[in-house]
Amino acid sequence: MPFPSDTHPDTEVFDLIDQEVVRQTTGLQLIASENFTSPAVMRAVGSVLTNKYSEGYPGKRYYGGNKVIDSIESLAISRVKDLFGADHANVQPHSGANANMCAYQALLQHGDTVLGLSLDHGGHLTHGSPVNASGQLYTFIPYKVTPGDERIDMDQVRDLALEHRPRMIVAGTTSYPRRIDPEPFRAIADEVGALFLFDAAHIAGLIAGGAHPNPVPYADVVTFTTHKTLRGPRGGCILSRQVHAAAIDKAVFPGWQGGPLEHVIAGKAVAFFEAAQPSFGDYAKQIVRNASALAEALVGQGFRLVSGGTDNHMMVVDLRSFDADLTGKEAQAILDEAGITLNKNTIPDDPRSPFVTSGLRIGTPSVTTQGMTEPEMARIAELIALVLRKRADAGAVGAARADVAELCARFPVYS
Ligand SMILES: Cc1ncc(COP(=O)(O)O)c(C=O)c1O
Repeated sequence: MPFPSDTHPDTEVFDLIDQEVVRQTTGLQLIASENFTSPAVMRAVGSVLTNKYSEGYPGKRYYGGNKVIDSIESLAISRVKDLFGADHANVQPHSGANANMCAYQALLQHGDTVLGLSLDHGGHLTHGSPVNASGQLYTFIPYKVTPGDERIDMDQVRDLALEHRPRMIVAGTTSYPRRIDPEPFRAIADEVGALFLFDAAHIAGLIAGGAHPNPVPYADVVTFTTHKTLRGPRGGCILSRQVHAAAIDKAVFPGWQGGPLEHVIAGKAVAFFEAAQPSFGDYAKQIVRNASALAEALVGQGFRLVSGGTDNHMMVVDLRSFDADLTGKEAQAILDEAGITLNKNTIPDDPRSPFVTSGLRIGTPSVTTQGMTEPEMARIAELIALVLRKRADAGAVGAARADVAELCARFPVYS
């Protein structure tokens, strides 16, 4: 029996997908949490594996017909364990947010005290924001960056840990441009008898590629997303010490999720394979070099950067020194018109609301995947500054849009 779309192609959806291909490939993609995944990953995600129900785990499923699926999920598990040197891996979380909630469910009781980086200082919603279930189910105490150098205040983390005796300390960030050393967090956790969870959502690819320290030897649990610097399909993953393995697996299924997305798990397996290749190490290091070059060039254009620069794949720009009237919201919108896609972001202790903001977050994973290097970062900084300076001049913004398209045409991501 033919499928309805065999005879009536769904042009509406596929025309929109074609438009998105044009948007992604003719503009600069500078959102720090995004990347271009490989055709091999997309082939796995678009495969017949989407047809299969496989509640449970390899060898222990609630449905028949899972021989191949078991092999795929086992491959993903063994590849990610090897990649990060972990005792145990659960590759089923549908997202980074789910991975965190599952880890909390596995290791905490509702109401337990947890330390996490404050959202407006670079933490994530799932690190205890009051609008997120993490902040509603657990008692999160926020730590912050120092007012001076805008780096995580480890003295404050220790003081808060000694005062509140948390059950868990969470490290890991969503808009923090500096290296996070897992060792001092472990030492503080040990001092107060807390568990240590490292959320490596943003930097998993930098860790896999040897550009940032691996938290696995220090943390009880490491959660991450597979779609950011790691460059895989959209999804989450949990690594843990063997002692927590059963609790983590139970929290993912049946605790939080139903049937796993085995097509996405196959895509994760491909991404773990790609990340294990020596060339991925070159890629991870180039992401960091590109971010440093872009940061330096932006400073040269008159922008202030939170913490003065970057050690990873992103920077947070404080727009106030460039133009006191310019908000993150306005800057994001006008840059979008010029084909430069990034996101508004709060700066520490931002006087403006999170919907308006005084800052921008800019990341280099996607442009690095395209093959851009330091000279292109200088050009991108020029284009950003030009568009923001001449934002009232539609002709100048239009000319910048053409320059952006010309730059992207020189670095095609998909043949
Ligand atoms: C640190 C951190 N944790 C968790 C997440 C959540 O990931 P997802 O959007 O896949 O739920 C993000 C997403 O940006 C993040 O930055």
